[in-house]
Amino acid sequence: MMAKIIDGKAFAARVREQVAAHVARLKEENGLVPGLAVVLVGEDPASQVYVGAKGKQTVEVGMNSYEHKLSADTDEATLLSLIDKLNNDPAVHGILVQLPLPGHLDSDLVINSINPAKDVDGFHISNVGLLGTGQKAMVPCTPLGCLMMLRDHHGSLSGMNAVVVGRSNIVGKPMAQLLLGDSCTVTIAHSRTKDLTAVCRGADILVAAVGRPEMITGDMVKPGATVIDVGINRIERDGKTKLVGDVDFASASAVAGAITPVPGGVGPMTIACLLANTLTAACRANGLAEPKGLTA
Ligand code: GUN
Repeated sequence: MMAKIIDGKAFAARVREQVAAHVARLKEENGLVPGLAVVLVGEDPASQVYVGAKGKQTVEVGMNSYEHKLSADTDEATLLSLIDKLNNDPAVHGILVQLPLPGHLDSDLVINSINPAKDVDGFHISNVGLLGTGQKAMVPCTPLGCLMMLRDHHGSLSGMNAVVVGRSNIVGKPMAQLLLGDSCTVTIAHSRTKDLTAVCRGADILVAAVGRPEMITGDMVKPGATVIDVGINRIERDGKTKLVGDVDFASASAVAGAITPVPGGVGPMTIACLLANTLTAACRANGLAEPKGLTA
């Protein structure tokens, strides 16, 4: 039987509606408008597209968007000075420094200079530590989006076997922490994993975040499993450029119980969760109740 398609585009639209409704209430009842500052260094075309989309959606849900575009040769002191200014600006509740940064800048140093309470990417070492110890953290947007879709599909995830393929700091590791937090039995697999097929076939929940086009095929999927495809890969096929995930959709969807497509699965959830995190940060900064269903 063909798997149920988990529609991330529709889900993200619902998340944005929830955020917009909460933002409208904050404005009316507390005179508070959440603000998100996005910092882009250089002219990387893909980053420019992301930053443009973030700014547009931030304004659409009623929040303030502050864009800071710096030239590719910006030095570290200038960037750190801007972040310091944003850290101390009460109108800014979320700060995002678009990655990758140009090679002469130390990404870890830059990210760790952001006030952790404003770190809406959840990349600061404090937030990584808080998440790993089950404390209230800012949670990375892409894994948070995956968690929301899994909770929506399954209700409780307790006791399920989850396999995360990929060990990046941005997706694989925080995804594993979130699944552990929801009482899954979690395995992190990667390029050196022995018999990846057997490991993946043990998964009730299979999250693919390896960055290799269509690597996870149907024979690696347990019948009825839920497959979350985080990959976004551009490939050439039949003379055309095509967007594919880390999962071979055709073969995997014939075996899985539910699956996210690419495009239209995890992708749209990332910015929706960034908006949710900005709202959460604004609520926490002002001692107000956090939005329900939009945090880990
Ligand atoms: N570049 C690509 N994705 C992301 C993201 O989620 N956050 C940041 N800061 N940069 C990115």
